[in-house]
Amino acid sequence: MKTKAFIFDLDGVIVDTAKYHFLAWQKVANSLGINFTHEDNELLKGVSRVRSLEIILGLGENVDITEEKKNELLIKKNEDYLVYIDKMDDSEILPGVMNVLDFLKANNQPIILGSASKNARPILEKVNILHYFDDIVDGNDVTNAKPDPEVFLVGAKKANQSAENSIVFEDSVAGIEAANIAGMTSIGIGEASVLNEAKYNFNNFKEITEDFLNELINK
Ligand code: G6P
Ligand code: MG
Repeated sequence: MKTKAFIFDLDGVIVDTAKYHFLAWQKVANSLGINFTHEDNELLKGVSRVRSLEIILGLGENVDITEEKKNELLIKKNEDYLVYIDKMDDSEILPGVMNVLDFLKANNQPIILGSASKNARPILEKVNILHYFDDIVDGNDVTNAKPDPEVFLVGAKKANQSAENSIVFEDSVAGIEAANIAGMTSIGIGEASVLNEAKYNFNNFKEITEDFLNELINK
């Protein structure tokens, strides 16, 4: 059997943390008199914390705040987010994820995390799967946000695999773009119409069969 690098995004792929990001960002937006909807939240998927705040400020009308105030809001948002994270457990792992992780582990395939989040490690710890990952590349390790391919290229390197031999699971348009730019096999998890640039599409991990994984490993 061959060896490939399997790189997983975190938010929206392994766990549904988007709902917690939403609640924490909504509080920030409301404190500034900005209306922030679930639809607006879609714009923040895969986007860094700092960039997310800029997008939210752009939703308001002529919101002009100091750098100091921006930093305060970023700290407050993360504090609120961490209160939700602290309550997470393994029941929040998305359907089918464990089967895929178990299959890859049983077949000695490198499992890597490639996420923009600076909270990746505590989240993986909370849901009890940190030990599945051979390496973690997160928002603390890279400077260029997706769609820049940096996070995935660093991940492949850690697994000693070429980009060609790397497979990326992503739920965001920016993440699929990053994987494609890197020359990796991109797998979209979510709406195929949204993630239409992905090489393969699945609604969730329950749809991913062992036959499909074997094909990816041995091609
Ligand atoms: C992921 C999420 C984004 C989030 C980013 C940074 O990419 O999809 O919504 O803004 O990580 O997360 P952090 O936990 O560092 O605020
Ligand atoms: Mg994501």
